[in-house]
Amino acid sequence: LTPSPVIPKSSAKSYACQRRTPLKHHNLLLTEALELLSENAELGENEGRSVAFRRAAAILKTLPQAVQRMEDLQGLPCLGDHSLRVIKEMLEYGSSQEVESTRHSEQYQALKALTGIFGVGVKTAERWFRGGLRCPSDVAKSEERLNSAQQAGVLYHEDLSQRVSRAEADAIGQIVERAVQEVLPGAQITLTGGFRRGKETGHDVDFLITHPEEGKEEGLMPKVIQWLETQGVLLYQKTTRNSYLESKDGPSRPPHNMDRFERCFSIFKLDRSTGEGGPLAQAPGGEVGGCEGRAPGSELEPQHCSTGWKAVRVDLVVSPYSQFGFALLGWTGSKLFERELRRWAGKEKNMSLSSHALYDNSQRRYLRASTEEEIFSHLGLEYIPPCDRNA
Ligand code: GTP
Ligand code: MN
Ligand code: MN
Repeated sequence: LTPSPVIPKSSAKSYACQRRTPLKHHNLLLTEALELLSENAELGENEGRSVAFRRAAAILKTLPQAVQRMEDLQGLPCLGDHSLRVIKEMLEYGSSQEVESTRHSEQYQALKALTGIFGVGVKTAERWFRGGLRCPSDVAKSEERLNSAQQAGVLYHEDLSQRVSRAEADAIGQIVERAVQEVLPGAQITLTGGFRRGKETGHDVDFLITHPEEGKEEGLMPKVIQWLETQGVLLYQKTTRNSYLESKDGPSRPPHNMDRFERCFSIFKLDRSTGEGGPLAQAPGGEVGGCEGRAPGSELEPQHCSTGWKAVRVDLVVSPYSQFGFALLGWTGSKLFERELRRWAGKEKNMSLSSHALYDNSQRRYLRASTEEEIFSHLGLEYIPPCDRNA
């Protein structure tokens, strides 16, 4: 009899924000299966079910070795009947019928492909699916009216469906750094999202921008965008206020100065030589790479010419210095980790956490913090570094 893996004390904790979840773990087959079911539930707009599967996958990522028998799971939280059933089947037969039939179902595959287009959410994907569309090229050929994000999504789909490498992320970082220094010297940029958690690749690159002098960051985003536009770097951009406060489990009391917050969803045109770590080739105002005739918005034909440059999704967020710690914590992820932090704050501490502030509902006041460490401490949580937030 092989001994059960010792379950680390922290794996018995039920909130992901109480645990260390590294990027690499020992249960990839099981977590991939549970995450597929989670994704399928999300595509079917069953949020509760989706989160339940995701939490089950997350707990398995904290274990020090591969699960081999059901007994190995004793004492672990977050494993509901359905998840346990899937795990049991996989341990016994090597795969789960439910997972495999979902993976191969036309609906799952189509909704995944359609929501994989930038600008397309679950509702739109479902409507298109009912209308007979199955993949991005169906959309391109169809008569569907597309908003400008979706047009860009279809146009650059081939590039955007490729993973972004760390080298490409760093090359984009240099461009953003240069843009920010041009329009506001002294401003600071920080790589957030998956790359900050140590991922080797991402679906996009996320940056947080601030300035140590409170107030200096106001109006920064439009200037940065304008500079990038004159350099010919932007294929698409949409600047908005941060919409986090509209989410269901957002804080009940929005901070008064939230309207200064800005974010930008964009698509960069990245020179392939820079993405490979080469010099920052620059021709101000001109084409960064070759590939003439690929002007955005000209025609809605998916583009295949990708010799000189690559379209890359980039998210930019500007934060006042006083909110920087909250913004950094809120934009580093993972999504489940963020969700669990807010749930912990609300359920266990009677507090409301957002990427702007932390409000203590009992004391009826905001709790200040300038670092992530201080926020964890306000929340009564042990500090978890970014590399262990991969829930
Ligand atoms: P990949 O990009 O796939 O590598 O993973 P990622 O973890 O970087 O995901 P993503 O870029 O989608 O999100 C990065 C972080 O931003 C996550 O923590 C999200 O929770 C967070 N995020 C995404 N949208 C919003 C938003 O509208 N408001 C706030 N405050 N955070 C958001
Ligand atoms: Mn990201
Ligand atoms: Mn992002």
